[in-house]
Amino acid sequence: MKLLITGGAGFIGSNFIHYWLKNHQEDKIINLDLLTYAGNLENLKDVEQNSNYKFIKGDIGDANLVNDLVKEADVIVHFAAESHVDRSIMDAKSFVDTNVLGTFNLLEAAKNNGKKRFHHISTDEVFGALKSDDPAFNEQTPYSPRSPYAASKASSDHLVRAYFHTFSLPITISNCSNNYGPYQFPEKLIPLFVTNLLEGKKVPVYGDGMQIRDWIHVDDHNRGVDLILQKGKIGETYCLGGNSEKTNMEITKLILGYLGQGEEMIEYVKDRPGHDRRYAIDFSKAKEELGWEPLIGFEDGIKKTVEWYKNNQEWWQRIKSGEYLEYYKKQYGEK
Ligand code: NAD
Ligand code: DAU
Repeated sequence: MKLLITGGAGFIGSNFIHYWLKNHQEDKIINLDLLTYAGNLENLKDVEQNSNYKFIKGDIGDANLVNDLVKEADVIVHFAAESHVDRSIMDAKSFVDTNVLGTFNLLEAAKNNGKKRFHHISTDEVFGALKSDDPAFNEQTPYSPRSPYAASKASSDHLVRAYFHTFSLPITISNCSNNYGPYQFPEKLIPLFVTNLLEGKKVPVYGDGMQIRDWIHVDDHNRGVDLILQKGKIGETYCLGGNSEKTNMEITKLILGYLGQGEEMIEYVKDRPGHDRRYAIDFSKAKEELGWEPLIGFEDGIKKTVEWYKNNQEWWQRIKSGEYLEYYKKQYGEK
């Protein structure tokens, strides 16, 4: 099988490529990634010589390129996106361009090239925010996105479903909760806080720090995507979550503890505008239909993740200094 992976140089996509090449050694992967600030080929150093893996630098906004690549593929797994809520508040245009129009290009190409199997990676943020006693999100929860990022992802989900209903495109969608693990860009809560503390800097907690997220290890997410590709029903959506609701303050204190630092390293800063208070996922459909559930306990997963950032300081230091942007030129030339 030949897979076209979009956004494979980012956090979840690069972990997915590692996972897939290890677990499906007969398959071939093409990784289409624009290498925005969030794309880092250093995440894939150890697979770049693998003859089943090929990297193409390009934009999912480029309809001709997308069409050519989709033509070659059996399956498309679409991770590429602008993914950071804070950036979408500062400047939303690239979120609409990539998340909405880029997804549209991929859907058109999949439709026009023999109706290719299409899996769309989405997020629980499309459902909006929960109150403390609300039941967790599930596949029936109405959409209520509240940030430009979430709205752009919701929009792409609607397009993906429309291509199923209107054109019988064989799609599936996964809406997953907050991922953590290796290779996460150090602008997101966990890698930002770990790397700041390793650099002797304080950690910026938004508002009162009592917002809740449902944390899932990236390997559990990617195993879920694999099972959806194998056993998921065409046209269906699957919610994937970590069964691990934590306040930001709990996470902060855990990280401080692992790194032997005190609460004086916390800096309370202005809250994120429109900050969603709580997310939680009910993954019973994935459990019943796919036999999927998260296997990595949060305590174990976060401990190993903190260790990973401690042991891979060069990886994130090169990001924080901007040096990682030179890697592509060295490996692939100026093109
Ligand atoms: P990321 O920001 O780490 O990576 C995104 C990747 O997409 C980067 O490699 C970037 O270069 C690439 N990209 C961006 N615009 C592109 C374009 N126009 N053309 C081609 N490539 C482009 O993101 P992530 O955290 O790995 O998230 C991956 C996907 O998973 C996204 O669709 C996101 O919405 C979804 N998701 C993320 C989480 C999470 O907790 N991180 C949870 C649920 C769903
Ligand atoms: O729920 C899934 C989503 O999780 C994904 O769709 C997004 O792509 C991903 O970025 C993530 O969104 P969040 O906004 O939840 O993640 P972030 O790491 O930015 O923030 C997590 C929580 O921590 C949130 O309540 C905001 C807070 N926070 C974040 C940062 C970066 C802080 O308090 N301080 C910070 O510096």
